Amino acid sequence: MAPRGVILAGGLGKRLEPLTRITNKHLLPVYCKPMIYYPIQTLVDAGIRDILIVTGGNNAGDFLRLLGNGAEFGLKHINYTYQRGEGGIAEALDLAKHFAQGEKIVVILGDNLVGKSIKKYVDEFTRQPCGAKILLKKVRDPQRFGVAEVKGGRVINIAEKPKRPKSDLAVTGIYMYDHKVFEIIKPLKPSRRGELEITDVNNEYIKRGEMTFDILDGWWTDCGTFDSLLRAGKLVEGALCKGGKKTCEY
Ligand code: DAU
Repeated sequence: MAPRGVILAGGLGKRLEPLTRITNKHLLPVYCKPMIYYPIQTLVDAGIRDILIVTGGNNAGDFLRLLGNGAEFGLKHINYTYQRGEGGIAEALDLAKHFAQGEKIVVILGDNLVGKSIKKYVDEFTRQPCGAKILLKKVRDPQRFGVAEVKGGRVINIAEKPKRPKSDLAVTGIYMYDHKVFEIIKPLKPSRRGELEITDVNNEYIKRGEMTFDILDGWWTDCGTFDSLLRAGKLVEGALCKGGKKTCEY
């Protein structure tokens, strides 16, 4: 059975002010589509049909107006829930507990875009007996991300936005978890930036010896800053131009 999919599209997108003053970051355009379309399509292409969108802020209703029941993606239904404030990625994920119903979940951050299908990783995780899986990507600016330290074929630690990164392997915003993720979130305390950190969740799986990883194939970007938002648009445009025809069929 395919895991269930969770898209985290809460937060206030303050780094994109004033673009995010009157709308949610994930509704902003990335080339020819609203940002949220890309992570939805990523999950659908991986064979995931049960999807929950966690949103927040003042414009949550706009997601429903834009996406409805997901018919545009061939879905019969989309589930929605609401995060108050901006308590962190792990806090947003905790809202998916009832939706997960004890099954495995694939989580994607609403501002993460990928150039290739993630189906092979999702299928591997479906076969993995338990634990978690993350996808890493070599980047030029690891200080902006969670950074993985890999030794002997295993991730031994993740540092969140380190000043002196131990590698150039960013932890992408695609996370796969078994049912234990919610018991791991429960005792978490807010970090110095006042958030429940997804990196703390991942480090707990690493400590338990239950974390696997892959290096993500194809391009990957987030859209959290002006530069990365622009880069995302260019990457999508490039992908559309590749076949010589420019359509919006991404
Ligand atoms: O993009 C990958 C990176 O995402 C990882 O490498 C980092 O380890 C991880 O912490 C995260 O870093 P950012 O600082 O870039 O995350 P940001 O605060 O921009 O949030 C990313 C998405 O997560 C955002 O588009 C929506 C969702 N989110 C975030 C927060 C803080 C929520 O749903 N609720 C929240 O409270």
